[in-house]
Amino acid sequence: MRVDQRTAPVRNHERSTAATAGRAAAVAHPNIALIKYWGKRDEHLVLPRTDSLSMTLDLFPTTTRVVLDPAAEQDTVTLNGLPLTGEAQRRVAAFLDLVRRRAGSSRRAVVHTENTVPTGAGLASSASGFAALAVAAAAAYGLGLDATALSRLARRGSGSAARSLFGGFVQWHAGPSSAPPTEADLASYAEPVPVAAFEPALVIAVVNAGPKAVSSRAAMRRTVDTSPLYQPWARSSERDLAEMRAALRRGDLDAAGEIAERNALGMHATMLAARPAVRYLAPATLTVLDAVIGLRQEGVPAYATMDAGPNVKVLCHRTDAGRVADAVRGAAPDAAVHTAGPGTGARLLDEARR
Ligand code: DP6
Repeated sequence: MRVDQRTAPVRNHERSTAATAGRAAAVAHPNIALIKYWGKRDEHLVLPRTDSLSMTLDLFPTTTRVVLDPAAEQDTVTLNGLPLTGEAQRRVAAFLDLVRRRAGSSRRAVVHTENTVPTGAGLASSASGFAALAVAAAAAYGLGLDATALSRLARRGSGSAARSLFGGFVQWHAGPSSAPPTEADLASYAEPVPVAAFEPALVIAVVNAGPKAVSSRAAMRRTVDTSPLYQPWARSSERDLAEMRAALRRGDLDAAGEIAERNALGMHATMLAARPAVRYLAPATLTVLDAVIGLRQEGVPAYATMDAGPNVKVLCHRTDAGRVADAVRGAAPDAAVHTAGPGTGARLLDEARR
């Protein structure tokens, strides 16, 4: 399989169904960052301090249906059949307010989301969630947005969601840090990056599927505010990103893996140095990391990355994925292990399929 630039075929679909019936459905996949997003420079606009780069997965789709209800006084949101409450509900309602302001509408929405990724486990459920919501809500409210504008919109829900608009490997631009907010908002979107023909896989070890103790939002704020390691990491991440793009263009999995692993370990170092420290890595995380080093010693190219949780994602060649999965299972017998390839970007679902 050739890994190519699979962009979201959103524009045409959206224009054809936009505003037809005040309803739309969309699907999106999570993405795993190889160059991490960690730190905002504007919390309201969700503008990151650094560029990031991810692979969209072909696993764990989120499907979201949005139906406008002229009679409703509040938005209703369910996740896997259960009503959302508290902060999660507030975040979705705030996102819908943003869409309504743009659409000049006051109509409330009924939102049903089916999520197949373990929510809150550091597997980027907010990325697929807000990407699917952005595409479905924009269509239901009749905003005629192209994929770039949808990426900017999804960003407002959760930064990493900006990247799930696109398939394959994707870069999210931070935009110019000195620009005024309106200009910076326009410049901070994701787009696919060119990659050579190679067949990567991410072996995902879910060592703990429970919700995390500290949200990534709070943890990144604390890291930026208090960690003496934050600025050096942010600077080195810029170089990592340039080198990652070059490695992907060459189809050089070893280089891409080395860069991804050091970038992730560096991000966790910034958190460990925060005051108080944020530590997402668990004993099982380190056992899996040892297994990854063991694989490399045996000549199997395998490189680890971790997000805001204890789970480990191992970048390897598709042909080695079985062996990598076995090694991971051996190291963490209680872990659920999944193998993902590059997936497609967010898209509207056809009327007939809803
Ligand atoms: C560690 O996108 O969940 O997964 O913008 O506050 O919603 P918010 O944060 P979120 O953070 C993801 C952080 C990360 C790294 C990454 O995906 O780049």
